[in-house]
Amino acid sequence: MRVPLLDLKLQYAPLKAEILTAIEQVVDSQHLVLGPQVEKLETDIASYTGAKHAIGVSSGTDAQLVLLMALGIGPGDVVVTTPYTFFATAGCVQRLGARIVFADIDPLTYNLSPRALEDVLAKTQGVKAIIPVHLYGCCADMEAICAIAAQHGVPVLEDAAQALGCAHPIGSAGAISEAGWYSFYPTKNLGAFGDAGMVTCREAALASKIRSLRNHGMEPRYYHHSVGGNFRLDAIQAAVLNVKLPHLDGWGAGRRERAAFYRNAFSLAGLDSVLSLPIEPWSDTGIANHHIYNQFVVRAPKRDALRAFLSEAGIGSEIYYPLPLHLQECFKDLGYSRGDFPEAERASMETLALPIFPELQEVQQSYVVEKVQEFYP
Ligand SMILES: Cc1ncc(COP(=O)(O)O)c(C=O)c1O
Repeated sequence: MRVPLLDLKLQYAPLKAEILTAIEQVVDSQHLVLGPQVEKLETDIASYTGAKHAIGVSSGTDAQLVLLMALGIGPGDVVVTTPYTFFATAGCVQRLGARIVFADIDPLTYNLSPRALEDVLAKTQGVKAIIPVHLYGCCADMEAICAIAAQHGVPVLEDAAQALGCAHPIGSAGAISEAGWYSFYPTKNLGAFGDAGMVTCREAALASKIRSLRNHGMEPRYYHHSVGGNFRLDAIQAAVLNVKLPHLDGWGAGRRERAAFYRNAFSLAGLDSVLSLPIEPWSDTGIANHHIYNQFVVRAPKRDALRAFLSEAGIGSEIYYPLPLHLQECFKDLGYSRGDFPEAERASMETLALPIFPELQEVQQSYVVEKVQEFYP
C-alpha cells in the first residue's frame, strides 16, 4: 500500500468540471489580473473569517511583505516572532531591514510561548510588531499574546498561512488581531493552482495602503505616491479558490475526523505514550474548528529512523522544520547559537508530520498506525 503525505489529485477530481469552467470564464473574459474574481474572493474571505478587510495578493510571503511595508517597518525596528516556522515569517522582516528577535515556542502547541514573549519584550527596545504563527492549523494563544502586546503597545500580526478556517475563542485565525495573512499555496487547506495569498486587517486606511502597494503604489495609472511592488493576485487563481472555498469547512471536518481516527488508533495500539500526539488547546470550548490539521504532527523518538522506515513502507511524511530559523545560515548575523531556543531546537529534532488530508482512507490510516507500531515493538 502507498500512503502519500498529501494527494491533491483526489481533491481535484470531483471539482474538475467546475474548476475548468471557472478558468475558461476567466480566459474568455481576458481579465487576467485582479478584477471581479479577486474581488469576490476578498469579499468571501472577509465574511468567512470575520476580517474587516481582505486584500488578495500573489502569495502568503508577499502578503506579509506588503503588510509590513504598509506599516512602515524597516531599519531600526524590531519584530518578534517564533524561530519554529516556515522561513518566510522571518525572511520578510529581514528583507525590509528590520531586526528579527526570536522568542521560544510552547512545547505542546509548537506556537509562540506567551511567557517567552513576555521575557523578550521586557529586555528588547524598538519592537514594532509581534508575529505569532498558527502553526499546522492550530491557533497560537492569542488571548495571552494580545494581552501582553497591548501592555507594550505593540501590534500583533498573525501568520495564519496554515490556518484559514481555524477558530479560536476570540475569533478566527488571521482575523483576531490588527492584521494577518493567509497562504493559498497548493498544499494549504485552501490551495490555489499556483501561488496566491491574502492580507487581512482591521483599519480601512491600512487596507487602502496595502491595495496601493500591491500595485506599485500606483494611483492613478503611472503616477506613484509610494514604492510598492507587484503583489497582484491573478484572476485564474482567484477563480479556482472561489470554486474551492465553499468546500473548506467540509474538508476541515474531514481532516479533523482523520486526526480523531489517528488519535484513537494510536491509543488503542498503546502508542499514545510513545508518540506525543497533537493537542487541541480549545477543545473544551465547544468550538468545532479549533485545530484544522493542515498538518498532523507527532513527536517521535528516533524520528529520523521512523521516517526512513515509513518511507520504505510506502508512507509519506515530512519534517516541519528540520532547522529552526535562529540557526539558519542566512540569519547568522543575528548572533544566535544552538541552545538559545531549546524548545524550538527539540521540536526540530523530534517532530514528524504524518499523512493527513480529507480523502485519506481509514485503511490507509490503519496501515500507518500498524507500521508505526511495527517500528516501536
Ligand atoms: C507559516 C507560513 N508562513 C508563511 C508562508 C508563506 O506562504 P507562501 O508559500 O504562500 O508564500 C507559509 C507557506 O508555506 C507558511 O507555512
